[in-house]
Amino acid sequence: MAMQTKPSIFLSRRQFIFTGMLSVAAAWAGALAQSILFPRASAAQAAPVELAPTELPVGAAKQITYAGAPALVTRSQDGVLALSLVCTHLGCHVQWDAAKRQFYCPCHDGKFDEFGDVVAGPPPLPLERLPVKVLPNKIIVGDAA
Ligand code: FES
Repeated sequence: MAMQTKPSIFLSRRQFIFTGMLSVAAAWAGALAQSILFPRASAAQAAPVELAPTELPVGAAKQITYAGAPALVTRSQDGVLALSLVCTHLGCHVQWDAAKRQFYCPCHDGKFDEFGDVVAGPPPLPLERLPVKVLPNKIIVGDAA
C-alpha cells in the first residue's frame, strides 16, 4: 500500500513568490485602470468652478468636479479650503468620514486629516490643495482663482 503525503497548508517558496508577484501586478493593473477610467484633465485645461457663497455657508462642505476629478470644498471660520479627492498614493478616490474628520482611501487604508495631511497608510504626500479665491459674490476654485 502506497503512502500518500498530505498536502501542506503552507505555500512553497515558489508559490509565495508567485502570489506576491501576482498581487503587485494586480495593484498596478488597478491603478492603470483607475487612470483610464477616471482621466484627469491637466490643470491648465481645467475650467475653474464657481460657487455662490450661499452654496457654501460656514461649516458646510460641497463636492465638486475639478479637472475631471472629485474635490471637496469646505468653509470654516478661517476660510475656504479645496482639496482634491485623488489619493496621492495610486490615485484612488478618497472619501470624507465626517465622524472621524478624516479622508479615507479604501484602496490601501490611506488616511488624511481634515487639512489633507497624511495621518496613516502609504500615501507619500498630502492631498492636493486647489487654489481658491473668495470674492463677495462668488467663490472660485481652480487656476483662475
Ligand atoms: S491609493 Fe493607496 S492608499 Fe490611496
